[in-house]
Amino acid sequence: KTKIVTIDSNDFNTMELKEAAEILKKGGLVAFPTETVYGLGADGLNPEASGKIYAAKGRPSDNPLIIHIADFNALNELTADCPENGRKLAEAFWPGPLTLIFNKSSKVPYSTTGGLDTVAIRMPSHPIAYELIRRSGIYIAAPSANVSGRPSPTKAEHVIEDMNGIIDMIINGGKVEIGLESTIVDVTSKIPAILRPGYITEEMIKQVVGEVEYDKAVLSRVQDPDLKPKAPGMKYKHYAPKGDLTIYEGNTKSVIDAINKSAEEKLQAGFKVGIIATDETFSSYQKGSVKTIGTRKDESTIARGLFEILRDFDSEGADYIFTESFENNRLGQAIMNRLLKAAGYHIEKV
Ligand code: TXA
Ligand code: MG
Repeated sequence: KTKIVTIDSNDFNTMELKEAAEILKKGGLVAFPTETVYGLGADGLNPEASGKIYAAKGRPSDNPLIIHIADFNALNELTADCPENGRKLAEAFWPGPLTLIFNKSSKVPYSTTGGLDTVAIRMPSHPIAYELIRRSGIYIAAPSANVSGRPSPTKAEHVIEDMNGIIDMIINGGKVEIGLESTIVDVTSKIPAILRPGYITEEMIKQVVGEVEYDKAVLSRVQDPDLKPKAPGMKYKHYAPKGDLTIYEGNTKSVIDAINKSAEEKLQAGFKVGIIATDETFSSYQKGSVKTIGTRKDESTIARGLFEILRDFDSEGADYIFTESFENNRLGQAIMNRLLKAAGYHIEKV
């Protein structure tokens, strides 16, 4: 049975947080909020404990886990070496939504790294996540707390949907701040490489280390089986809602017209239709279930709304979902990266 508790981010002296730390120490599974998405935590250095994560999520065992730390000294213990660029990026963005890939030390089991000689490490800034790591005194391996393939959870309700009855505890800390998973940067090569875009953008990274590359598979707008992403998880179908999601790209008016037309056709044929609009275009759609994801004036609202809106259309049983596209720069790059995967790379240019 899963114990569900609510913890106030400003009040840590709770029995619940102590209990969560105890469960983790003993090798159990606890879902907790971070600033990006909810994580499903287990002792990262205990293969038996992290093995339970794979079972709970239905996650392929070659997909490595991110180890969450609360103390810079952990780097000495978990990595074989900490290159200059890694140190600079950690100092600039930790605690925060950045994951760094290092060569692993022998302390990190291969079961956590999916057999790789590298390890993903992040120091989260969310007070509950941070405090949980500190109090448990262990390093917490934590993927997003969703069933493999589903949209990542941005609220405790999403975790409950996917994990209730399967794990030991779920900590409800309210809706997350960012809503997209951390930026992943590989610092094992001379020029750091972005393996997954996120809230920490290319520009922000460049300001710290000068040069940065992209893993080619990240920028691809088509599904190319020859491009093997360096982050194993990026190759899987991911974030997908149950309905068929299509992205429409073009000028605002043609996108609205095309979506209205497709919606009309599918409704005529008897299907349930969902439309992902923005505050700016919400009133331009008349048919189907229309939801706004956020405002184009502040793309962080769109990032925060993305996974939730996909899950909401699942709950409504939408057969077809039509969405506008977003600018592919800054945070928009992370948004489009998730949206493209959720849509199985299905874009209509109009
Ligand atoms: O924001 C986040 O990063 C959230 C919260 C919970 O911290 N976690 C998260 O974990 O998104 P997950 O497991 O859903 O995604 C981790 C990604 C996967 O694509 C995985 O393949 C990649 O990180 N990864 C982990 N270790 C790696 C490594 N050694 N080399 C390359 N990619 C790695
Ligand atoms: Mg995930």
